[in-house]
Amino acid sequence: MFPFFKKKKTNMDIRKIPRHIAIIMDGNGRWAAKRSLPKKAGHKAGAQTLEKISRVAMDMGIEHLTVYAFSTENWKRSEEEIKGIMDLLRYYLKTHMERAKKDQVRIHIIGDIHRLDEDIQEQIRILEELTKDKQGMCLHIALNYGGRDEIIRGAREFGRRVAQGELLPEQLDEGMFGSFLDTAGVPDPELMIRTSGEERISNFLLWQLAYSEFSFTDKLWPDFTEEDFKKAIFEYQFRERRFGGRKA
Ligand code: FPP
Repeated sequence: MFPFFKKKKTNMDIRKIPRHIAIIMDGNGRWAAKRSLPKKAGHKAGAQTLEKISRVAMDMGIEHLTVYAFSTENWKRSEEEIKGIMDLLRYYLKTHMERAKKDQVRIHIIGDIHRLDEDIQEQIRILEELTKDKQGMCLHIALNYGGRDEIIRGAREFGRRVAQGELLPEQLDEGMFGSFLDTAGVPDPELMIRTSGEERISNFLLWQLAYSEFSFTDKLWPDFTEEDFKKAIFEYQFRERRFGGRKA
C-alpha cells in the first residue's frame, strides 16, 4: 500500500485510484470578475485551491498530480496579469522551500523554464533539488508549457542524438519518444480534470493524454472542492478503458 494513504470513509474503490491525475485549473479570471476583484485575486484563490487539492491527492495515495499553471500561450495576457501570476509563483515556490523539510511532496516543473525570470528559474532548481528524494506524491507544475512545444523540444533532442551517432532513426518508438519529453519516466495520466465548463485540452499534455479519461465540471477552479475532486475520481472508476481494444 502506498505509504501516505490515509484511509477515509468513502465509497471509492481504493484499488482503482488513478496513479496520475492532470488538471487544467481554469476559471480564475471569471471567479474574480464575478466578485468585481482584479484577476490577481482570482489567481491567488486558485493557488489556495491548488494547495488544498494537492494535499487531498497526496492523502489519497495519488502518485502524480500535474497542473497547468502557465501555458506557452499565456504570454499573450496583459503585463499586469503575467506579473501577478509570476509573483504568486515566487511566493508559492518560497513557501514550498520552507516546508520542504517536513513535507513529502516532490516538486517537478515541466515546460521550458528558460523564458521565466532568472530568480524564478533559480528557485525552481533549488526546490527540485531539495525535494528530489521525497517519497510522497510528485507535483508536476506546468510552467511556460505547451504540448506542441514539448514535442518539438523532444524531437529536436532526438535529432541531435541521431546526428551525434548515438541513436538510429529506426530505434525510435513510443517508449523512446516518451523518454525525450518533460514527463520522462512518469506514467500517463489516467484522468484529466478541467474546471470552468470549457471542454478542450488547450495544448496540455498532448502526447500523454492519448488514452486518458476526461472529466469536465462547470465549477470555477477557485470554487473546486475536495468533494468535486473525489467525485471526478469516483466517476472515473466506472469508465471502461479499452485503449482501442474490445470489451474483455
Ligand atoms: C486559468 O484561469 C488559470 C491560469 C492561466 C493560471 C493558473 C494559476 C494558478 C492556479 C495560480 C498560480 C499557480 C501557482 C503554481 C502559483 P483563467 O485566468 O484563464 O480563467 P478565466 O478563463 O476565467 O479568465
